[in-house]
Amino acid sequence: MKVFSRVLVTGGAGFIGSHLVEALVASGAEVTVLDNLSTGHRRNLDSVGKSVTLVEGDIRDRALLDQLTRSCDVVFHHAAIVSVTQSVSDPALSCDVNDLGTVRVLDACRKNGVGRVVMASSSAVYGDGPILPKTETMPACPLSPYAVQKLSGEHYAAVFGRLYGLETVCLRYFNVYGPRQTPSSPYSGVISLFVSNAVSGRPPTIYGDGSQTRDFVHVGDVVRANLLAATQKAAAGRVFNVGTGVSTRIRDLWDTIQELSLTKTAPVFAPPRAGDIQDSCSDISAITQCLDFTPKVTIHQGLSDTLAWYHHGNGKIPGYRAQ
Ligand code: NAD
Ligand code: UD1
Repeated sequence: MKVFSRVLVTGGAGFIGSHLVEALVASGAEVTVLDNLSTGHRRNLDSVGKSVTLVEGDIRDRALLDQLTRSCDVVFHHAAIVSVTQSVSDPALSCDVNDLGTVRVLDACRKNGVGRVVMASSSAVYGDGPILPKTETMPACPLSPYAVQKLSGEHYAAVFGRLYGLETVCLRYFNVYGPRQTPSSPYSGVISLFVSNAVSGRPPTIYGDGSQTRDFVHVGDVVRANLLAATQKAAAGRVFNVGTGVSTRIRDLWDTIQELSLTKTAPVFAPPRAGDIQDSCSDISAITQCLDFTPKVTIHQGLSDTLAWYHHGNGKIPGYRAQ
């Protein structure tokens, strides 16, 4: 059944965006991607080929946004400078893209009467408060320019709803992982780093004693949350956590990856990262109650799937079989 006619995905050539694009194409939607390919890649859209229009451009380009949002049912806004480190070293640039870019996307959407905007926010807005699990009603405590920008995006979404009647839904992702997440820097997602270490037989670095915990959510579940947020009437104007409600210790994560990849390498321990949060876990009761969202991918299944993707790219894990 065709759910959407015409959609725009900003950042659709990136890790999460490209998985969303695949699902939208499978649903029969006419999909346009706006991406400047700063961290995204054309190859991420290989599987959808000519069914998607990829426009190489910037979310700060008003004329382009005006053109691309015309007659869209839904806009999924994923484009951002996602590196917290980069937001710390160049806060003005990340503000320009993440704040001004988001306002331009919202503005084009309200001018062109887009039905709904689904926005990628982050658990970073919670900061490092000790109370767990994190619920949407807790006060935000952003600790980086990136987190401030994600929070201000949520506020702009709410204000565009009140002032102009634009329907928005903001999704606070916890630690997303899965195929196509690349270990491009030491600050890339820990699963992408650990899996590439396992594949290439290199020891991982564990910062601190590895007792930190994270709520790892598979990209497939994040895509389902986006589709629900875009289609369910009750989601309009809401902010939801997107996680699993289950946390995994970093030390255990490496052990599981070794088990699944049939490898054995002792990790290297390094001092804790400055500002590292000890524990993070989502409360997903709001999205479960409102949108009937429950995560389907267990950490074992998700790691297997991620290893399989790296394995096919590298073919370096002797005897490894995807489950
Ligand atoms: P990603 O870097 O793979 O995707 C971001 C995409 O945006 C890239 O394709 C990039 O080329 C594009 N982009 C950047 N600046 C742009 C600009 N000015 N104009 C047009 N395109 C631009 O990262 P991702 O992990 O897929 O993140 C997607 C979204 O999810 C982001 O908004 C990010 O903040 C949010 N998020 C991700 C996580 C996670 O764990 N990966 C957690 C919380 C929130
Ligand atoms: C994540 C987000 C960040 C967000 C924060 C807020 C990613 C890549 N980063 O950071 O944008 O601000 O949530 O909740 O999704 N680790 C190792 N070895 C490594 C890499 C990491 O031990 O090689 C440890 C880290 O010290 C940390 C944990 O693994 O304790 C997770 O690290 P990481 O994947 O970078 O994500 P967060 O720090 O949770």
